[in-house]
Amino acid sequence: MTSVALLGLGRMGAAMARHVAAAGHDLVVWNRTPREFEGAEVAASVEDAVVGAEVVVLMLFGPDSVREVLPEVVAHAPAGALVVDATTIGPQAAREFARTAREGGLRYVDAPVAGSVGPATDGTLGVLVGGAQEDYDEALPLLHLWGDPARVRRVGEVGAGSALKLVVNQGIGVLAAGLGEALALAGQLGLDRTAVLDLLGGTAYGWTLGQKRAMVEAGDYADTQFSLELLAKDLALAVDSAGDAELAVTRAALADAQAALDAGHAGEDYAAVVGHLADEGRADSY
Ligand SMILES: NC(=O)c1ccc[n+]([C@@H]2O[C@H](COP(=O)([O-])OP(=O)(O)OC[C@H]3O[C@@H](n4cnc5c(N)ncnc54)[C@H](OP(=O)(O)O)[C@@H]3O)[C@@H](O)[C@H]2O)c1
Repeated sequence: MTSVALLGLGRMGAAMARHVAAAGHDLVVWNRTPREFEGAEVAASVEDAVVGAEVVVLMLFGPDSVREVLPEVVAHAPAGALVVDATTIGPQAAREFARTAREGGLRYVDAPVAGSVGPATDGTLGVLVGGAQEDYDEALPLLHLWGDPARVRRVGEVGAGSALKLVVNQGIGVLAAGLGEALALAGQLGLDRTAVLDLLGGTAYGWTLGQKRAMVEAGDYADTQFSLELLAKDLALAVDSAGDAELAVTRAALADAQAALDAGHAGEDYAAVVGHLADEGRADSY
């Protein structure tokens, strides 16, 4: 049994915390906006959550939120505690946070997840870990609670998991924008939307449609799994991490996501970008 603090009870963090509680670990949870949670102690502050923790799991929005919370963790967690950062933050931030943790006497691995609320609930996420082998080994029993053991892997030193995660989400964002434009084109050509969706299901867009076709057909993106804000955050992280690579397509997908946010789709699932492009024409911001 391990003393675990899990910080961040959003869609993913709450699902992960339920696995930790069910496995019988000594779990304390915290969320910035006070939230009820069955099966674990709910702490009123980061300090209260981490003060007795052997492992501190972070599942926050992105690098800015981790940058806000981590100093409190460093100040109050016991020396030697292991920080498992499951937030999608990008490799530069992961290395920065590892330094912050190390300087405060803690250990750190980045462990972003692949898969959405369904796999988080089922405990079948992919987990991409960057960090020291011994820290990975120590984190593994916990990672197996929310991850499919066949898809939990150490991919390198700190930052490696976060780098791979950005590449994965670049594809998700580009596919969504491409699908939206394909539907916009089909609309301009007077094609039947259902027939087009049937055919596109057998193309590269089939992955996106497999998950989001019902939302796109209904034009209703309120059942958020992976929010449009998170997708925009990840595309911006990809662009910011790209060094000399121009990533023109990724920048365009980011502009599309931003345009959909500006058009009022904030809070909705990222599939809203497909509908926004399909129904309201191509974003004019790039
Ligand atoms: N949803 C997915 O399908 C999915 C899949 C893979 C990876 N991810 C990644 O997993 C992470 C969590 O995703 P999610 O879907 O659970 O997001 P979410 O539902 O939007 O939850 C975000 C969490 O971060 C907290 N937070 C935001 N800003 C904060 C700050 N400045 N200080 C402290 N806490 C802050 C929120 O607290 P409040 O309640 O107070 O706002 C909330 O607990 C993200 O990095 C995301 O990119 C998500």
